[in-house]
Amino acid sequence: MTRWVKVAATSDVPPESMKTFQVEGKDILLANLNGSFYAIGAICNHQEWDLSEGTLQGEEVVCAGHGAIWGLKTGQGKFGRPLPPEPVYKVDVKDGQVLVELE
Ligand code: FES
Repeated sequence: MTRWVKVAATSDVPPESMKTFQVEGKDILLANLNGSFYAIGAICNHQEWDLSEGTLQGEEVVCAGHGAIWGLKTGQGKFGRPLPPEPVYKVDVKDGQVLVELE
């Protein structure tokens, strides 16, 4: 069964920024792209760097560790070799709060 869980206030993640939040044992990267929020797994599937330490480039985040590039909408990684995708979470915004859908 899925349910919506509060992650942060919209003001916690200003436009063109991203931040990692711990929600029910999951590390979730929340990114604000021009007022729209996206959420993927926050721990890089290469060597476990926190993606919030990386750089936002449009709809992608470049990991500060070794440069893997992750799609904020797809969870797919670009690297020299295949990496498992990051989980992608559905996001909703209500009353100034950002919620993600969890299993
Ligand atoms: S830990 Fe992210 S690219 Fe290596």
